[in-house]
Amino acid sequence: MARIEITGGVPLDGEVWISGAKNAVLPILVASLLGDKPSFISNVPHLQDVTTTMELLGRMGASLAVDDRMRIEIDPRGMTQFEAPYELVKTMRASILVLGPLVARYGRAVVSLPGGCAIGSRPVDLHLRGLQQLGAEVAVVNGNIEASAKRLKGANIIFDTVTVTGTENIMMAATLAKGTSVLENAAQEPEVVDLANFLNAMGARISGAGTNTLVIEGVDSLQGAEYSVLPDRIETGTYLVAAAITRGHVRATRTRPRDLDSVIEKLRETGAEIEIGDDWIDLNMHGRRPRAVDITTAPYPGFATDMQAQFTALNTIAEGTAIITETIFENRFMHVQELQRLGADITVKGNTAIVRGVRELNGAPIMATDLRASAGLVLAGLVARGTTLVDRVYHIDRGYEIIEEKLGQLGARIRRI
Ligand code: UD1
Repeated sequence: MARIEITGGVPLDGEVWISGAKNAVLPILVASLLGDKPSFISNVPHLQDVTTTMELLGRMGASLAVDDRMRIEIDPRGMTQFEAPYELVKTMRASILVLGPLVARYGRAVVSLPGGCAIGSRPVDLHLRGLQQLGAEVAVVNGNIEASAKRLKGANIIFDTVTVTGTENIMMAATLAKGTSVLENAAQEPEVVDLANFLNAMGARISGAGTNTLVIEGVDSLQGAEYSVLPDRIETGTYLVAAAITRGHVRATRTRPRDLDSVIEKLRETGAEIEIGDDWIDLNMHGRRPRAVDITTAPYPGFATDMQAQFTALNTIAEGTAIITETIFENRFMHVQELQRLGADITVKGNTAIVRGVRELNGAPIMATDLRASAGLVLAGLVARGTTLVDRVYHIDRGYEIIEEKLGQLGARIRRI
């Protein structure tokens, strides 16, 4: 099984281009099933989760073609199967996103119920309740969600909790419902907005994306669309933290700075000098040790839970003590035990981690547990003295395109073995 070997201690220096956003491309690929014609999606990152999504859509009968620049053409006209089987859902929870489009466009869906995962129980009750409110029959039978509807009907839906994929699922379903739907307490993440823009390019009528209230006027049919996926704000933030943790100087290019306000604010608090252009962010530590920064995760525009592990890593070698509070997922401190193996001083109490900065970390074999946790571990490896071996790299490949090449170009001593 592939591992990443890092010899720490090099301040990163240089430019890194940012890939398309994983959390936007997955729902957008799935949304293309709603159309009567092919869609063309560009700026697609080369990621395991994208491959899994393509496999899922292909098995259902959609035709897919990928060119050498990772532009994907999806033609849903051959759809014959309306199922997402357990073996795919268990490797990628976002498979649940096919539920809304299948019921709305094809009248039925069978999706394996996602189980627990490394970062907590992560239920999908709000997806199911939303679909029911749109008039679908929904039942869980033999571990599968079975949903059906003749034609969905517009409804007023208030989400109990802000849910990103829940909002996306119900928004997609409502595009083809009869009448108007209003989704309140909707997720405001940039990826939700990107999906709404894509759906509108297909002919949907969605307004309010980027606020907590979405209004969706149902239409009878959708076409295909050409769309370029927005840049990945989490990947961007990860490379900026890589610069900060190594006391280096990195410019992230082909990104969208406005999506990173809360991350940039926190990085400035560490003492980083940050310059921002139209599509780039430049972070320079000038060789200084970062200062500790407290973090509390929250739905967008708050501080992203997907950046928590990276900032935990940063705080392990910072000057001072930081309090990290995780409010979105239970059990999202799996990286802490691994960071402790490198010499980090961290105490976890419930959903809070107290990180006392140490002068240095020391390399050790460690294990990736989930996607963002593993990014935090790679970052720690970049500063640890000696060699850090990160096992279970497949978690990283789900969400970071050629991470070892990108870090290598910035001067990191890193290789896949
Ligand atoms: C998405 C992102 C993931 C990110 C997360 C939070 C994708 C593919 N994944 O995951 O990277 O970490 O948002 O920003 O976009 N909840 C319920 N019932 C539900 C649904 C969710 O109680 O039906 C709870 C969850 O347990 C969690 C919270 O709502 O506590 C937020 O989860 P949610 O936004 O749904 O996460 P995902 O959409 O799975």
